[in-house]
Amino acid sequence: MVENFKDFLKDSIRKTVDFSLTAQSRGLEPPPIQKPPNPKAIRIDLIKPGEWKTIPEVSIEKAIAERKSRRHYKEEALSLEELSFLLWATQGMRDERAARYNFRTVPSAGCRHALETYIAVFRVEGLSNAIYRYLPLNHQLVEYIERENLENLISKAAFGQSFAGKSAVTFIWTALPERMEWRYAQASYKVIALDVGHVCQNLYLACEVIGAGTCAIAAYDQEYADHVLELDGEKEFTIYMAPVGKKG
Ligand SMILES: Cc1cc2nc3c(=O)[nH]c(=O)nc-3n(C[C@H](O)[C@H](O)[C@H](O)COP(=O)(O)O)c2cc1C
Repeated sequence: MVENFKDFLKDSIRKTVDFSLTAQSRGLEPPPIQKPPNPKAIRIDLIKPGEWKTIPEVSIEKAIAERKSRRHYKEEALSLEELSFLLWATQGMRDERAARYNFRTVPSAGCRHALETYIAVFRVEGLSNAIYRYLPLNHQLVEYIERENLENLISKAAFGQSFAGKSAVTFIWTALPERMEWRYAQASYKVIALDVGHVCQNLYLACEVIGAGTCAIAAYDQEYADHVLELDGEKEFTIYMAPVGKKG
């Protein structure tokens, strides 16, 4: 059985796809590139690239050399500007012109970007503790869900890895496979997994720039994490998590 599972990593899966039958080839409209927010939900403007005043200039060499998985964080809050920087670095639009083509700060197979970013906020200046979703097209946050005992819920979602609830903010990425399947059918799943790796690596490096740290989490409770985010677990489901806080 195990041998069959690993096959999804091989390029040979592409040979099983009849590309003349994909949704794209059949002339169907692609799904939206950003999940439409509830029109009644409050939106929060983030600080745009070019308007940042406190993000230090750090060499890429230093950020790469210092990157490591960090699981202990200070009590210190992140500023809204720091959070804006992290969201831009992980899923933001590359620039205004590129936004027309959905080009972002991270690469994506076929530029399909089949991910959404949720953040569980515990200590960010100006934001109340709740779950928000990032809107890359608008560079805004949209209020998503308020929950009691959010720290406990997020730790539990991370299979009891308590640092997930002791962060300033925990990123939770979801996959919406339909966006990728529109072009790649069953060859979508490998590239979605590759895509989210790029996103998390950018988070690692961006954290180093602002004196913060993160740690990738793939050991999470699928059903519980999806329940906390009120996802159906089919069209959209949790794929990866990463708590962030100032270096402890
Ligand atoms: C795909 C992936 C999943 C991971 N999942 C977890 C996790 O669930 N919990 C955890 O504490 N660390 C997790 N890590 C972090 C690794 O343990 C860490 O990257 C590894 O020990 C190497 O340490 P370094 O990142 O400091 O170089 C994960 C890393 C990756 C890339």
